[in-house]
This record gives sequence, structure tokens and C-alpha cells, in this order.
Amino acid sequence: MFFGNKIKFKTQIPGPKSEAVLNRLKKLNGAWSLPYPFIQSNKGKGCYVKDIDGNVFLDFASQIASNPLGYNHPDLVKVGKKYAKISPLKRAGQDFPVEEHLEMLEELVSITPKRFDSAFLINSGAEAVENAVKIAMRKQQSSKVVVSFEGGFHGRTLGALSLTNTKKVHKQFYMSLNARRLPLDDTSIERFEHILSAEYSPEEVGCVIIEAVQGEGGYKVVPFDLMKKIRDITKKNNIPMICDEVQSGVGRTGKWWAYEYSGVVPDVQTSAKALQVGATISNKTMFPKEDGAISSTWGGGHLLDLALGIQTIRTIKKQNLLKHNTELGDYIRGRLIELSNKCDTIKNVRGLGLMNAFDLPSPKIRNNLLLGLLKKGIITLGCGPSGVRVIPPYVATEKEVDIFIDNLEKVNNTCTKSSFTHKGKICKYADCGVDHS
Ligand SMILES: Cc1ncc(COP(=O)(O)O)c(C=O)c1O
Repeated sequence: MFFGNKIKFKTQIPGPKSEAVLNRLKKLNGAWSLPYPFIQSNKGKGCYVKDIDGNVFLDFASQIASNPLGYNHPDLVKVGKKYAKISPLKRAGQDFPVEEHLEMLEELVSITPKRFDSAFLINSGAEAVENAVKIAMRKQQSSKVVVSFEGGFHGRTLGALSLTNTKKVHKQFYMSLNARRLPLDDTSIERFEHILSAEYSPEEVGCVIIEAVQGEGGYKVVPFDLMKKIRDITKKNNIPMICDEVQSGVGRTGKWWAYEYSGVVPDVQTSAKALQVGATISNKTMFPKEDGAISSTWGGGHLLDLALGIQTIRTIKKQNLLKHNTELGDYIRGRLIELSNKCDTIKNVRGLGLMNAFDLPSPKIRNNLLLGLLKKGIITLGCGPSGVRVIPPYVATEKEVDIFIDNLEKVNNTCTKSSFTHKGKICKYADCGVDHS
């Protein structure tokens, strides 16, 4: 039997089982960016997930926006059962396509603007960006420079990383494509026009890439009129515009794609995370005609990922979740604004649909608050220098939002005091903003 929809603690965080795994992982894992010290089990329901020590958390981070339907959604469990006895689940999808490949393309085309009539399926968000940039560059055959925005995050592969502008740790020591970075405000227009008049001719600009709502960089909603102005310049100069919807896409903002709010349609868009596979989506004329010009062994060939992504889109349609995300998002921002009126540490409430955030006075206080929330059994994630993402699964209701807000208020009242420090085992593994060494 499942544990019911309730936060529950059986052990301290991390519990002994999680700690044993974490210690082994720390030794063997070549990368380390773990924000929280617990190991998830495969048990969960809706917005709740259990760790291997039996503790139950309320998840307002949605696996970094890649778990839109929450834990063990019956539609997705059914898909899992259908594919349980099939091997190999991973096929060389570009060379040996599967029916699911076509079904995913059909679903994608059904939720994108009319001019997007084809897509290339790939494995991750960064690869979706890589291929978006590649197809844009092929159109601009004399590309010399690519353009992105301050605070933009587009992935960690070298091409995508050249366009990423969030933290130094992502970029230092790596070579970059020739890239220019525009500020994310009205001055960007003047700066962009200057690049086009003084540095490069329009045909030398391979692409402009933008997130309509910045993710990792701080959940900033790009003003709709700024999106329009950027689109106008790219159109006027025939420069391909890419909207990166890896984090904001597939309904999270209450529309299928966040750029829809501004009324612009880019030349190319990406998707991944909630889609379960990566996708570069555009008009057929943007894609290369030669065989093999873009490809990948597993691109579009992971049967289960495809089937889960297809079902995710169908379930969002069936359960009318775009409307739900819009309404619940309004409720979340309403409750956050109420709280920010009471607590002067909670600032800049912002977002669209279920892609929301607020800021705290400093990175240290933010990190303390994230850990404080975890100690209350609530999983959230930071963004930007001092932001907190509020990104529940689409199956969340006002009840879960109220639990989140009540706990946020309590944690805010303690963790934001200047004398506050976290204590206990948790500090060995997580960044609580204090040097415990
Ligand atoms: C907007 C955006 N683009 C690209 C990426 C890279 O995706 P992935 O981590 O799947 O490579 C991310 C990941 O957070 C993202 O948020």
C-alpha cells in the first residue's frame, strides 16, 4: 500500500540508507552538483515522493521541470507496463525508426504553431539546442557569430555552452563559439542594432536564442514587448530566432510554449525535459536536405521515452491541464504575494502558470531557506543568484500550494535571521550557506 499524500519523516535527512549510497556516489560519480542529500525511491504518488529511508517529501521542483505529471501517474504507469517486456528499449532511431517516432512527431506538430510542421528528435535539452543552432547556421551560410542573452541557460555541451550565460563554473576553461551576449532589457535592442551596424552584417549572425521565461538564470519572464521587438529585428534582417523551451515548454506556463504569451513565432524552437526526449522543432524548409547532415544513434529511438512523452502530451490535453496550470499559477502567485506583503525577505514574486519564483535578500539566505524547506519535507530548487523556483507537478492542487506556503512562512521566519545556522548531518552534504569545515 502507498503511504498516502502526506509529508512524513522516519529518519533525519539523510537517513542511514541514503547516507550509505551518497558516500559511495560521492566517490564514484565523476560529477557532483547534488543540491540535497537524500536518495529517492521509486515510490511516490502525485506531488509526493518517498526516499529509500521511508521519508516522504512534497515535491515542488518536479525533477527540474521534467516530471510534469508527478509520481506514478496512472497513464504513465500503464505505458511503463506495456513496454516492460520489450528489449531493446533503446533503438538507433534515426537509422531504424519506430512507430512511436512518428506518433511523437505528430503530437508535437499538433501543439506547435502551424509553420512548425516538422521536428528532429534527440536525447537531451542541450542536444536540442545544438541542433537548433546547427540548422539555423546552415540557413545563414556565412555565420560568424551567435547571439544570446545575459542569464540565458541553454545547456552544457560546447555549442550550447557558448550561448549559456549564467554561472562562471559552467563556462570557465572551455573554448566558445564566437558569441555576443545581450542584456535582458530594453537596452538589448540598441545593443543588437549596434552589433548589426558596426560589427557584423545580418547574414553573419547565425542565430539569436532566447528563453521566453529564463530558467536556471532566475525565472525571469521576458517582457512580451521586448520579445516582439527582438522578433521584429530578426525578421527584418533574416536572422533565425530560436526560442529555447526546454524548461518552460510542454504546458508548464499554462500555454504549450512560453513564447506564445508574447504572440511571436520564432523560426526554430526546442523542447526536452517535460517531453521526455529532446526535440528541435521548425518548418521543414529549415532542416537540411542531405542525408545524415544532422543525426544521432539514439535520436528518436528510445521507445519508452517516446511513449511516455506522447502520453504526457495526451494526458495534458485529456485532463485540460493548460487551464489548470494557468489557474493554479494565479493562485500560487496570489499566495506568494500575500506572503511577501507580510515578510520583507520575500521579494519579486514572478512567473507564468506553474513556472514561478521569488527572491531572497542574498544567496546565503536563499540556500538556508531551501535547506530549511527540505527539513520540513518540501523539495524546491534555487535559480539565479538568490531566487527560489516554485514548480510543482501539473497534478498539484491548492491544497499542496497551501502546505507549501504555510511551511515557507515558518521557514522564512527562522532561516532568514542573520544569526541563523543549520545544524546536523545534513550540512555535511548540502550547501546551507555556512562554512561548517
Ligand atoms: C532552457 C534550457 N535549455 C537547455 C537546457 C539543457 O538541457 P539538458 O540538461 O537536458 O541538456 C536546460 C536545462 O536545464 C534548460 O533549462
